[in-house]
Amino acid sequence: IDFETILVDTRGRVGWITLNRPEALNALNAQTMHDVVIAAEQFDADPGIGAIVITGAGRAFAAGADIKEMEDRTGLDMRLGNYFAEWGRLVAVRKPVIAAVNGFALGGGCELAMMCDIILAADTAKFGQPEINLGVIPGMGGSQRLARAIGAYKAAELVLTGRMIDAAEADRAGLVSRVVPADALLDEAQAMGDTIAAKSLPSVLAAKELIRTSLESPLAEGLRHEAALFASLFDTRDQKEGMAAFREKRQPAFENR
Ligand code: HXC
Repeated sequence: IDFETILVDTRGRVGWITLNRPEALNALNAQTMHDVVIAAEQFDADPGIGAIVITGAGRAFAAGADIKEMEDRTGLDMRLGNYFAEWGRLVAVRKPVIAAVNGFALGGGCELAMMCDIILAADTAKFGQPEINLGVIPGMGGSQRLARAIGAYKAAELVLTGRMIDAAEADRAGLVSRVVPADALLDEAQAMGDTIAAKSLPSVLAAKELIRTSLESPLAEGLRHEAALFASLFDTRDQKEGMAAFREKRQPAFENR
């Protein structure tokens, strides 16, 4: 498939989605949302892919939802059009998704990064939820995911003032897993994707699902879910292979089953 607003390619077992409207700082319009979701679902269904990376072309990851597209809408338009609903399909992707944040990740761009499982930041990355400056609020999950990621008090400051933070502050706040030099970002993301894609896929899917569960459910429920998935992995060949490889002091050869 040819996509209008993104570039898609495969490097090894890692699927890459590059937001590609650099002239608009990769502002997320309805077409971009659709393209990202379709590409991510294709990678999710592809047995040759073990991890997905999302990044942005140019000097932004994404500078937000497309303000020019939204400007004239009414509240009812937003409700009945269920404007950002399709992003739910990205969140439902079962394989790990890494956001490689190269520059501005603002508003919907920060929210897109937070829909991913891991946020890897270039030292040039900037994060923020500036919607308050536009007379609105985060609408793609920012109020909820930022509060869970960095705590309610720091999230409140960012959402209420619209202040942008740099990569170092995002790192201290726990929003990003690591900060790397900008010119190493794509290689680092590929290396992280390669590392994950080399594991046994059933265990990777279970691990992602459980981290998600931790954000959504009470501890007791999450622990029960973990116990069930943990036990189920003992019926995979890869568990036998992984543990045999340890005993035999060699690398495991996983078969994803
Ligand atoms: C549409 C955008 C855009 C956006 C940038 N552009 N962000 N277009 N929607 N979110 C466009 C600009 O209009 C401009 O195009 C081009 O990209 C380059 O941007 P500049 O502003 O000229 O660049 P610069 O001066 O370097 O400033 C960079 C910036 C600024 C600080 C990131 O662009 C900015 O503040 N952008 C908006 C950030 C924002 O408010 N995001 C939240 C959006 S709301 P032209 O053709 O005009 O030159 C959102 C909410 C979701 O995400 C849910 C709530 C409803």
